[in-house]
Amino acid sequence: MNTPEEHREKLRSVWQSTQEPPALSPLTADISTDVCVVGAGIAGLSVAYELAKAGRSVVVLDDDRIGSGMTGRTTAHLVNALDDRYFEIERMLGADMARLAVESHTAAIARVAAIVAAEESDCDFEMLDGFLFNPPGESQEVLDREFEAAQRAGIAIERVERAPIPDFDTGPALRFLNQAQFHPTKYLASLAAAIERAKGRVFTGTHATHITGGETARIETKSGATVTAGSVVVATNTPINDRYLIHTKQGPYTTYVIALRVPGGSIARALFWDTAQEAGMQDQHGPIPYHYVRTQKVGEHMVLIVGGEDHKTGQNEDYEAPFRSLESWTRARFPMAGELEYRWSGQVMEPIDGMGFIGRNPMDEKNVYVVSGDSGNGMTHGVIAGMLISDLILGRENPWTALYDPGRVSLKATPDFLHENLNVAAQFRDYVTGGDLAGEHQIAPGCGAVLRKGASKVAAFRDDAGALHEFSAVCPHLKCIVHWNGAERTWDCPCHGSRFDALGTVLTGPANTNLAPA
Ligand code: FES
Repeated sequence: MNTPEEHREKLRSVWQSTQEPPALSPLTADISTDVCVVGAGIAGLSVAYELAKAGRSVVVLDDDRIGSGMTGRTTAHLVNALDDRYFEIERMLGADMARLAVESHTAAIARVAAIVAAEESDCDFEMLDGFLFNPPGESQEVLDREFEAAQRAGIAIERVERAPIPDFDTGPALRFLNQAQFHPTKYLASLAAAIERAKGRVFTGTHATHITGGETARIETKSGATVTAGSVVVATNTPINDRYLIHTKQGPYTTYVIALRVPGGSIARALFWDTAQEAGMQDQHGPIPYHYVRTQKVGEHMVLIVGGEDHKTGQNEDYEAPFRSLESWTRARFPMAGELEYRWSGQVMEPIDGMGFIGRNPMDEKNVYVVSGDSGNGMTHGVIAGMLISDLILGRENPWTALYDPGRVSLKATPDFLHENLNVAAQFRDYVTGGDLAGEHQIAPGCGAVLRKGASKVAAFRDDAGALHEFSAVCPHLKCIVHWNGAERTWDCPCHGSRFDALGTVLTGPANTNLAPA
């Protein structure tokens, strides 16, 4: 029988498969520190690194291993070529903010390069160019607008006749200079080691159950051990301590990735992106999502990594379809691609105005900080969080504070705000609909379904041995009804992106507790 862990094992990313994320000791006794960071992904460890290097005592907690969340499931593009497009950022936030966005993401790439050198990190860090191209037959308008806006914002960019993909003519493309890529879990292993050398402490397998700020911040954990701290930073991809505010300003999207073996040297060392979503392409389900591409050496061979086909989390009918679409998109453009070696998914938090939420948690005590809204640029946003939040805690001015302020109101993004929140409101119709199936007898081994039982909805999963497991289908965050994801054997909440394994254990916030027993 496949346990939920064994099933997820089959969907591990190339990063998790080639660098086992470190598991350290759990926290077992009360402890005090200057700063407690919850979450050991790129954002949490970047904040902890900067503060430990500045001489502050730091404690990091993670409920799983280092990099076991979205940092282990990214494709690890380190870019200032933001996928929300500079002409949109300029429209919503103004030209000055667009320039600060370029400045901060460029600084993040440079900061990673500096840390890799200083810590002698063997993380496959590489500077390279990125190419943005249109889907076939699309007008050049998006590329033209982006070229002009990116130049105004200060990006190093050129027009080229085509992206360097040998067997596929992309047509005119934009070349972004000085982008980068790395192996994210190898990088995190280096950061964690550097934090410990600087006397910081990192605890894994430690679930933070309750987080409060105030004169002394207090972080309670499932084991009963408590951390008291001068400040607390919640870097859990989507905040587990903020119940409403930030979740109304961002939407959760599931993105899919495949990695196929390719002959060494057959594909240029570069990053590639298409503009499908921005070009307004539609299919029967709505906009066709963009794609993002890179290569990575795995042992002695090379893999081509292709991601995309995003959809709102918990809102899909066929969870295998995105993997199929990605593979056919890839084989049409990269005919040298061979065996499919890895496939996985990740979650992107899309803020309504395209910029991350990094700073003081709004409507909270002054010593509570959050990082969220990766916007598909989680690697650079995480490194920006390291620089920005460490400055805020150390009392230093930082020019990016307003741009990333989690409490900001972006009036020009109001249509996106309404769109996301009307979508959430629409999910409550699940309370009055029937179940996915007529009864549990229709659930095959390895499958799940939401069933109606009287006034309640029940999340029912039949394991490979035939035993039925039933839970309340009500998400513990704000009470939407979870949906079954058959490809990954998870329960996904369509409202703010909480995910639970087949046996109801919470995997991804903002929910911070498991599905309740039925
Ligand atoms: Fe908010 Fe489920 S994640 S209701």
